[in-house]
Amino acid sequence: MTSLTQMACEVLTCADGREKTALSHAHAARWREMRAQGAGREAVGRGAPPDRPARPALPELVDPRDVLRRKPGSPEGRIAMLHAVAHIELNAVDLHWDMVARFGHLDFPPGFHDDWVQAADEESKHFNLICDCLEAMGSHYGALPAHAGMWRAAEDTKDDIMGRLAVVPMVLEARGLDVTPGMIEIFRRSGAKDAVAALEIIYGEEVTHVAYGSKWFHFLCGRENLDPTPTFHTLVRRYFHGALKPPFNTEKRADAGLPPDFYWPLAERADR
Ligand SMILES: [Fe+2]
Ligand SMILES: [Fe+2]
Repeated sequence: MTSLTQMACEVLTCADGREKTALSHAHAARWREMRAQGAGREAVGRGAPPDRPARPALPELVDPRDVLRRKPGSPEGRIAMLHAVAHIELNAVDLHWDMVARFGHLDFPPGFHDDWVQAADEESKHFNLICDCLEAMGSHYGALPAHAGMWRAAEDTKDDIMGRLAVVPMVLEARGLDVTPGMIEIFRRSGAKDAVAALEIIYGEEVTHVAYGSKWFHFLCGRENLDPTPTFHTLVRRYFHGALKPPFNTEKRADAGLPPDFYWPLAERADR
């Protein structure tokens, strides 16, 4: 029987975006089926995920300073924005499967794996929804250069599950909650109904990904008898390069189990 970790590694080593996300959906469904039939920890297995996930030949990965900035009001600007979102979603698929594969051997209740498989399944849907929008606009994922630094957080935290939870769902995905409403507004004003619908699905589901991060971070703090707030600050300062950018979406962050004293002390000083 294929273990969950093996399934995760298969997704991570698949290069093409549409194929990767199809595999991700299939393996998530398979895992839910296994769980319904009583599979538990023993079905997680152990694996050796690649240092970096396989990626398609395009987009070209460049330094973020070299990613062209286009006016958000123009059609090119909206395509560039969706292309950046597709890139983030594809990375998120790999980040969640990497969470499963890399930390599968740690002692967690099976709900830990269920949550990250669910998140990976949703990221796969997000990638496809945004790719569909790009294609309807005459573009596609790979048509523009993309941010090369997306895997850095994973590399920096490859040996530290608490650091991984702090930086990936609780900082990077929480940032998505801050910026998505503004993006939805841009597409609403341009009349792009399919992009608005896709971004609204993403916005709703991303709250749960941040919440999974907060839930398992607090679980580990409780088990290790650590005070969550200062522990979070220490880990983010260690692994995240730079300050957090306000304005924050305090309401959605609260929905996701992130209270203001978690992020405000890490914010850029000028805006405090
Ligand atoms: Fe997503
Ligand atoms: Fe997410």
